[in-house]
Formats: sequence, structure tokens, C-alpha cells
Amino acid sequence: MKDLSPKPGDLDPIETASRDEIGALQLQRMKWSLRHAYDNVPFYKKAFDEAGVHPDDLTSLSDLAKFPFTVKQDLRDHYPFGLFAVPRQQIARIHASSGTTGQPTVVGYTKNDLEMWHSVVARSLRASGLRAGDVLHNAYGYGLFTGGMGVHGGAEAAGLTVVPVSGGMTQRQVRLIEDFKADGITVTPSYALSILDEYAKQGLDPRDSPLKVGIFGAEPWTNAMRKEIEDAFDMHAVDIYGLSEVIGPGVANECVETKDGLHVWEDHFYPEIIDPETGEVLPDGELGELVFTSLTKEAFPIIRYRTRDLTRLLPGTARSMRRMEKVTGRSDDMIILRGVNVFPTQIEEQLMEVPALAPHFQIELTRPDRMDLMTVHVELAEGPSADARDAAAKSLSGKVKSNVGISVKVNVTDPGQVARSEGKAVRIVDNRPKEN
Ligand code: DLL
Repeated sequence: MKDLSPKPGDLDPIETASRDEIGALQLQRMKWSLRHAYDNVPFYKKAFDEAGVHPDDLTSLSDLAKFPFTVKQDLRDHYPFGLFAVPRQQIARIHASSGTTGQPTVVGYTKNDLEMWHSVVARSLRASGLRAGDVLHNAYGYGLFTGGMGVHGGAEAAGLTVVPVSGGMTQRQVRLIEDFKADGITVTPSYALSILDEYAKQGLDPRDSPLKVGIFGAEPWTNAMRKEIEDAFDMHAVDIYGLSEVIGPGVANECVETKDGLHVWEDHFYPEIIDPETGEVLPDGELGELVFTSLTKEAFPIIRYRTRDLTRLLPGTARSMRRMEKVTGRSDDMIILRGVNVFPTQIEEQLMEVPALAPHFQIELTRPDRMDLMTVHVELAEGPSADARDAAAKSLSGKVKSNVGISVKVNVTDPGQVARSEGKAVRIVDNRPKEN
């Protein structure tokens, strides 16, 4: 793998500023953001008033804990534009979630917001090792989803040559990576695996591809998956995190020289970790739910937004800004199987340990005989014969039993039988009878 470490002058000065400087900037910006939300969004005025707090009550960063949380339902209740803090005419762009469950959630950006967004994505791409003049193959979906256009704008701001491929047409993805000599690829980790399979189908060795780095996010993925992808493509794999409510991709990114968690771009997004049950703020280092407050956003300020993502905050390493550990999962994706909490990433980790299995998987939940049953649908890798099936199934269920602590049924299919996604993978299919 190529050395992509930054050279002097590659970073924004704030990335290596002292903690005091960062803290002072955050406090000044947080005061502005609370005031902006209170003065311009009736929802925040009401919420702060009801909680008996006022923007003037914030004199230190820890005072933020006095302010109320915002949750996804608040966005739905104010569909479509009810939480915007500027007149609609000043909104330069709208994005929205797919809204598979209920109302879609809508977010807006002013011209300044777009510029800020692009600057944090540009910073993320540089942290990943890309530089002006490099070619970026952007396979995140374009459209209302923030992945495609967010990365696109950041890539342009960083001076890259961006190829706006979007998701889908996997054969063509491989061809364009090769023909345009992409230095980097931005894509969900699950779709990266489909692109990897396509290399094999076309008889090409992915290790000979021009790619130097892949920047993967929009869904959880493990360090075991990182190793698999890095070995397969002979490139670096780094993690990019973000969510539409906060801005989109580019809230936090791993540095290619350390790969030790994601530095949160704290000059624009203030992170807290809370106990998801009590709402109490937890000290750095403890595992809990990630909460964000925007510090500079104009159109859609967001105060103490509960992401439902579980992680912990750690001190800065390659940059002064704090890191968040790789997200293990969303509280929504946590399966409670006979009392044991399980995330799909835990199954992924075990799966990567069984060489006869391909890394594609889906978890199905059913309830035969009134007992929850988890079936892991997974594919035999290309190569091993069908006889390897039973041994592979046994091996995976054994590893899950001893390392995760649950009994699962493993269904090993032929290669290509597990549903593929071109964006975020659907990891859990719940076929249990609905409770009334
Ligand atoms: O997924 C933004 C994005 C696009 C991030 C491209 C990175 C790359 P949403 O569709 O609003 O926005 O989904 C946000 O996706 O709360 C997490 O649960 C999950 N997620 C995003 N990045 C990661 C990651 C985009 N690196 C939700 N690791 C978040 C784990 C992630 N989960």
C-alpha cells in the first residue's frame, strides 16, 4: 500500500490547533448557534422555554447538558420545512431521507452551509490521503441521499477530479475505475464487496487496480471487513461518518496514517455521549449514544440531536480533534435474542473468520414455536466445492455461539444468492409475526 501520510501544509490550521483554541472557538460558536435556533425556530424556542433554559445560560461547553434533546420524530412533526431558521428563499439545497418508515425527514442548506459542508468533506478526503489532482470515483448514490452530492462538492473543493458515477451498473463501475485510473473510491462497504466480485467476474485482479484508498461509510462495518477489503484491493480503507440531520457525510473521518477511529470535525459539530436510558452525559471513553449540536449551520441548526448511533469519544491522535470509535451499530439495529443484545457487525466479525464463506450476509428473524430464531444467510465463497457447505455452516455457528453467545442457524447458499445492495445494505429482515 502506498504511504498517503500528510505533508506539512496539507492540513487546515485548526486540525492541529491546541485544545484551548478549539474549546474557545466551540464556545463562541455554540452561543451563536443556540441563539440562532432560539430566535428563528419556534420549535426550539418552545423546547428551551419548557425546559426553563435560555441561550444566555450557556457560559461553558458543559452547560449544553441543560438544553433539551432533539429526536428524529421532531423532524417528522415539522415536515417539510418547519425547522428551518431562514426564509425558504435562502435555502440553496434540500436533501431528505428515504422515509421507508413514515414521513421522510427533510434538511436544508444555505449557500454558506454548502460551502462549510464541502470544506469538511474536503478535509475528510485529505485525511483519507487524497490530494488535489487525484481522481475520485464517487459511487455513493446521487439524489436526495446526502452521500453522492455531499462527497461530490467536497471533492471539487479539494481540487480532485471527481467522477460522479453514483450507485449501480456494477460492470461499468469496474470499467471506469480502470479506464479513468481512479486513485480513490467513495462507496458503502457493502457495495464495495459487489464491485470486488465484479473484478473476479471480469477476470481482473483487483490488486492491480489503480485504487490507493477507499473511503467507506453510510453503514457500520468492522475492522475485519477493513482487512478483507485492504488485502483484496491492496489499498487503504478508511471510515467516513455522517448523517443528514447534522450535515451528511464529513462529520468525522479516519486519518489514513493511523486508522484508529474517526476524528470528529469539532469546529463545526459538537459531540456528546449520553446514556441512552437516562440521557445523562457520559465522560469521554464511555460507550453510549452519540449526540450532536451544530455550531455553524444557518438553514437547519440542530441542537443535541440523538443519533441513536453507539460509540465512545476518545482523545485526538493524528489531529487535535477528538475521535469517535468505529460505530458498532444503531440502537435501532440491535437485536435482542433471548436476552442477549446482538448487532449485525458482531456476526460480520465472525463471518470474516471463515475462509470458505463470502463476506455477503443477511440476518433473518423468525418466530417458530414462539421462540425467536436468527438465521444467517451467507454464501459459499467462489472456489470451495459444495461439500464445504456443512463444515462452513458449523464453523460459523460455532464461532457465533462461543464469541457472541447466541445460537444461530446458518444457511449457506451458492455464490450470488444473498441480496445485494447498491447503497446501504439491508442487514436484518424481520419476519416475526407483528405484535398487536
Ligand atoms: O449515511 C451520510 C453518509 C453518506 C455518511 C456517505 C458517510 C458516507 P443518513 O442517510 O442520514 O446519512 O444516515 C445516517 O448512517 O446515523 C449511522 O447510523 C449510519 N452511518 C453513517 N456513516 C456511518 C459509518 C448518511 N461510517 C446514519 N459507520 C448514521 C457506521 C454509519 N454507521
